[in-house]
Amino acid sequence: MNTKQKVIIDCDPGIDDSLALMYALSSKELDVMAITIVCGNVPVELGVQNAFKVLQLMDRLDIKVYAGETKPLVREFVSAQDTHGMDGLGETYIEAPKGYAAEEISASEYIEQTLKLNDDISIIALGPLTNLAKVVQQDKYALKNVVRLVSMGGNYKSFGNCSPVAEYNYWCDPDAAKIVYENFAFLGKKIEMVGLDVTRDIVLTPSILSYLKRINKEKGSFVEKIVQFYFDFHWEYEKIIGCVINDPLAVAYFVDPTLCNGIEAYTTVETEGLCLGQTIVDAMGFWKKDSNAVICTSVYSTYFMEEFVYRIFGGNRKEIHSMLAQL
Ligand code: BDR
Ligand code: CA
Repeated sequence: MNTKQKVIIDCDPGIDDSLALMYALSSKELDVMAITIVCGNVPVELGVQNAFKVLQLMDRLDIKVYAGETKPLVREFVSAQDTHGMDGLGETYIEAPKGYAAEEISASEYIEQTLKLNDDISIIALGPLTNLAKVVQQDKYALKNVVRLVSMGGNYKSFGNCSPVAEYNYWCDPDAAKIVYENFAFLGKKIEMVGLDVTRDIVLTPSILSYLKRINKEKGSFVEKIVQFYFDFHWEYEKIIGCVINDPLAVAYFVDPTLCNGIEAYTTVETEGLCLGQTIVDAMGFWKKDSNAVICTSVYSTYFMEEFVYRIFGGNRKEIHSMLAQL
């Protein structure tokens, strides 16, 4: 009997998306059904190539990749190539495996069709919510069957990372984010939001990186290559030594929800003006609406890092525990 949780990973790889894919593909609890790509950190064609590069590294080129929306629903597309590099993998220009291409049908068609036929599939969304909003536009009941939807995006009490109030994924396509949140309210379901309030606590430091290389040369060197650009970005803009790795936390939380604490609240996203892309969390219930979201507010970051190291790079759990305590 297959007791693994079936997931579709919708993403925009991206440096931290790639680490998240590595986490998912190293987790025996998950059965990754497909990877769907959305425009975000990079244009979709580059995201597809990067997904294949990670699948090659993880020896999982059997997993299908679907290309999704090439621009946000309403707004102009603004990538995050300043953060992730022109190729999306820190300007490493690693070669993609030859002979692999995205499937013929689009990401939103794949998701819609798959959810029509199955009621045991979850989605982990690591980029802007454009593909999922498209699914909702195609059929407002399509997401009814999703077991869980975990979205890396948004920010509740934390400040933004691309405006004073907005996080990139929701800022890039606020209209899509609003549609998906409001659709969940309509369906009486709850999105699980893993936003900057918790991901900011997840920092991959240079010392942890050098440990990764020691326990797993191949994967450690891959990570070392792709994160250098991200390190430089974080130093320049946030004065952080190392980099915040947002997306793997969403996967880790999906696998083990006890990793974060949170609150339930009605949540939506601003689509206009100065506060474009801001996540509005009605934590005090002013609007008297039923909650459509679980908002993660705190994380056991040390525990996350142990899981991250052990699952992807292997090694000895006791040693990892004591090494991380020193690093
Ligand atoms: C999110 O934006 C992207 O740059 C990252 O991949 C992550 O999904 C963080 O705001
Ligand atoms: Ca991402």
